[in-house]
Amino acid sequence: MSIKRKFILTLKEIEKIVNTTNLDSRGKVKEILKFLRKNFEKYNWIGIYLLQGDKLFLYEYEGNRETQHKVISLDKGLCGLAAREKRIINVSDVSLNPYYLECFPETKSELVVPIFKDGIVIGEIDIDSYKLNAFDSNDEWFISKVANLISEII
Ligand code: SME
Repeated sequence: MSIKRKFILTLKEIEKIVNTTNLDSRGKVKEILKFLRKNFEKYNWIGIYLLQGDKLFLYEYEGNRETQHKVISLDKGLCGLAAREKRIINVSDVSLNPYYLECFPETKSELVVPIFKDGIVIGEIDIDSYKLNAFDSNDEWFISKVANLISEII
């Protein structure tokens, strides 16, 4: 199966989670993160940060470990950069990026995708990978679609 096809099928499953009546918002987000992590090996740690004022607050995550960065100021890290500049940040080698805020020593690359509601950034999806150069434009497209679905429930 092509990766694009896998992404499309996954989006259909995520839509089902969004539309289920059995879970509250947090439960749906948790389920979506679990589903993503289970299906994409290179998505090692996935978190949702929500923007409040000039800070990002960790809402839910799926991964082996907790991050010490549960609150990130807008002027810090790749997470701050994505929210500030309202754009996707895709870093193929975090060791070379001056904005990078380390959470896990294993992380080699990172993708941060803003979540928009009515054109305003309300949060973001942050994915760490233990692989170098893990994310390409297909991942950017896919995670942007996931961000749109998540914006419907938070
Ligand atoms: N690396 C991020 C911080 C969040 S952790 O990856 C969970 C950054 O540079 O903003």
